[in-house]
Amino acid sequence: MKATEENFKLLFGPDAIADRVAELGKQISEDYRGESIYVCCILKGAFIFAADLIRHIDCPARVDFIRLASYGNSTTSSGKVKITKDVELPFHDNHVLVVEDIVDTGITLKFLVDRLKLHTPKSVRICALLDKKARREIAVPVDYVGFSIEDGFVVGYGADYAEQYRHLPGIYVVETS
Ligand code: IMP
Ligand code: MG
Repeated sequence: MKATEENFKLLFGPDAIADRVAELGKQISEDYRGESIYVCCILKGAFIFAADLIRHIDCPARVDFIRLASYGNSTTSSGKVKITKDVELPFHDNHVLVVEDIVDTGITLKFLVDRLKLHTPKSVRICALLDKKARREIAVPVDYVGFSIEDGFVVGYGADYAEQYRHLPGIYVVETS
């Protein structure tokens, strides 16, 4: 059995991802110079991206996780977001950097940012590896974007389809025809 499928087309290979993640880390480190940050990784999709990204951030950083669920085992959002694991660190009066795998409609991030603001952080910024701009339904300011992509379902490097393919080192678009 192979890890990838015939209808997967490689979008970004491991080297391209590594280069871009390093650039993002450098940019973030420059922007927060002299500050310390609280990284909020959205589970499960962003776990690999966040793990790589934080190793390129050279300001003091604490890491926390929140688990949000909006997708069932399908490729379209249910439009409803729920927290299945909340953050644990005190975000109040701290700079929070949200790390997400993919921004699609924006519903998930809008929900999360509103929710994090209840903690009255010093600031909230968003870093997303992939941005599907054309699909946006709710405006969310994404401060750091790895790659802008077209509409289409992607898997790999943390992103799943029905809980599969997260472990693939590259990012693939699933071609449906
Ligand atoms: P949004 O709420 O519509 O912006 O959806 C964002 C969430 O849906 C992200 O946390 C992703 O994990 C997931 N998602 C969106 N597009 C894809 C995709 O193409 N593949 C896998 N997961 C996706
Ligand atoms: Mg997700």
